[in-house]
Amino acid sequence: MKRVLVLHGPNLNLLGEREPAVYGTTTLSQVDAMIRKEARRLGLSVRVFQRNGEGPLIDLLHANRKWADGIAINPGAYTHYSYALRDAIAAVAKPAVEVHLSDIAKREAWRRVSVVADVCAHRIMGKGPAGYLEALRWLSTRGSKKA
Ligand code: DQA
Repeated sequence: MKRVLVLHGPNLNLLGEREPAVYGTTTLSQVDAMIRKEARRLGLSVRVFQRNGEGPLIDLLHANRKWADGIAINPGAYTHYSYALRDAIAAVAKPAVEVHLSDIAKREAWRRVSVVADVCAHRIMGKGPAGYLEALRWLSTRGSKKA
């Protein structure tokens, strides 16, 4: 695994100011700097994007499907209901890690449902920004086949 596409979904651009009691005070640009640093350490190339819309996230999955060996994605609230994003992850057919800053299993009932979980090879939640770094480490030990 050499090339990893990192996608942040809706509202994650407001990290640091958005519900800090839930999501912490680290900003998205700080998270992205941590991701790039860990990627360098692991010898991975990363492309990192944040989009608020479902279509733009799907377009990025399509556009990077030949480049990426693996995907780390925090789909935000799309996690819970976007079959379109789920189908896009399945279509790309690369090992994907579902990342959540908060522990969605311990929050509202509707957040406990993930429609992307079955097309992701691994899930990391409740570890804050460190979850993205764990996702990179997890992917770096995988081959490029769908897990
Ligand atoms: C989130 C959890 C989702 O339920 C929420 O809609 C988000 C962020 C997380 O990282 O904990 O936007 O994916």
